[in-house]
Amino acid sequence: MADIQNGDSCSSSPLELFERVTAQGEKVRSLKAGKASTDEIDAAVKLLLSLKVTYKTATGQDYKAGSPPVDFSPVSNNGPTTTQDEDFVDPWTVQTASAKGVDYDKLIVRFGSSKIDKELINRIERVTGKTPHHFLRRGIFFSHRDMNQILDAYENKKHFYLYTGRGPSSEAMHLGHLIPFIFTKWLQEIFNVPLVIQLTDDEKYLWKDLTIEKAYDYAIENAKDIIACGFDINKTFIFSDLDYLGMSSGYYKNVVKVQKHVTFNQVKGIFGFTDSDCIGKISFPAIQAAPSFSSSFPQIFKDKKDIQCLIPCAIDQDPYFRMTRDVAPRIGYLKPALLHSVFFPALQGAQTKMSASDPNSSIFLTDTPKQIKTKINKHAFSGGKDTIEEHRKYGGNCEVDVSYMYLTFFLEDDDKLEQMKQAYSSGALLTGELKKVLIETLQPLIAAHQQRRKQITDEMVKQFMTPRKLAFDF
Ligand code: TRP
Repeated sequence: MADIQNGDSCSSSPLELFERVTAQGEKVRSLKAGKASTDEIDAAVKLLLSLKVTYKTATGQDYKAGSPPVDFSPVSNNGPTTTQDEDFVDPWTVQTASAKGVDYDKLIVRFGSSKIDKELINRIERVTGKTPHHFLRRGIFFSHRDMNQILDAYENKKHFYLYTGRGPSSEAMHLGHLIPFIFTKWLQEIFNVPLVIQLTDDEKYLWKDLTIEKAYDYAIENAKDIIACGFDINKTFIFSDLDYLGMSSGYYKNVVKVQKHVTFNQVKGIFGFTDSDCIGKISFPAIQAAPSFSSSFPQIFKDKKDIQCLIPCAIDQDPYFRMTRDVAPRIGYLKPALLHSVFFPALQGAQTKMSASDPNSSIFLTDTPKQIKTKINKHAFSGGKDTIEEHRKYGGNCEVDVSYMYLTFFLEDDDKLEQMKQAYSSGALLTGELKKVLIETLQPLIAAHQQRRKQITDEMVKQFMTPRKLAFDF
């Protein structure tokens, strides 16, 4: 950050800025191509984004590769909160705004998915007779594929099932990991359908520096956190790939079918694999694809090959399912439908997502009330002003304030949330006070999770993970 602030950007000419953005863009590309560390790439991307913001502030134009600035007149500043200096005070600020708004809309266009709009949300409410989950109302699940088809099926009393998953890369799960599961539990309840949950211990063994045994242990530990979200044991099957692939009479057949219909070229294009990636990685997408087909679970669906699947997941999982949807009709199956969520922002700001490997970027499900308090007070990026006087005068910025963002995820009361937003934006509520509301929202939520997790016995885990018929007749 200091780099950016002290950089010569303030004094650079628009053309020099243009050249800096271009050079930084090239640097990001070469880091990615050279398989640099994620930290290195992230840092370079951050600098790139902030340079773009600087460029826009200086020229009033969006940076466009290959098109140098044409008109150098700087944008006028409206009021003291948007002085050029302040724009540089924290690059997260503007980047966050763009990540929240433009980028997710851009992703929808780039991925070719559809926006979850008011009309779809109303239809969900009409069809189920239930108030839509606040994740839907607040745009946390923001994109979908073929959700209308699922609602058609439901209206016509046709079966469908839910599929989601988790890559058990460590024992520690954080708040962000809960989002798809909280939402999936709600979907299971309102639609009353079977649910399968894949734990990709094989994937984590292939990608990370982990032994098979460790990856499997993590799968079991993570299963406890997942079960603690409240899934119905009679309607939910949780499986470890390392276990279930060798046990099922249907799963591996579907894996092989997918493998036969996807070329190396295609996965290179979708996932960026290279010639030097191990063949385990190259064939893994078929293993994440196959649970989208009901015949992978004969114990649940008998011989039914045409039960439609709905997959709630974070948007970063979409490439797997674009591939799946492309293959499905060619192997005689239905395409799975999808519901996509945004990323859960890191404490430091929405430009990065929470990462289990950086303890200060995340609130873990194992954190004590005191740790939660300290992390939020110390690390949650604030959209408030530097001094109380300024804050009272100009108000805080909810768009970039991580504590406010977290409240949109976890404070269910719409009225209270709106009240917070008004009070914070007007300056009546200070950052410390907003943080206090968040701390008091998360402490009981996490304590309750820990309480539920404690009740989960090895026997229960085993039951959830045993291939069996669920409470549905097929
Ligand atoms: N690959 C996912 C991860 O690393 C785990 C996963 C497997 C998954 N199948 C899924 C996630 C289906 C969402 C939906 O976390």
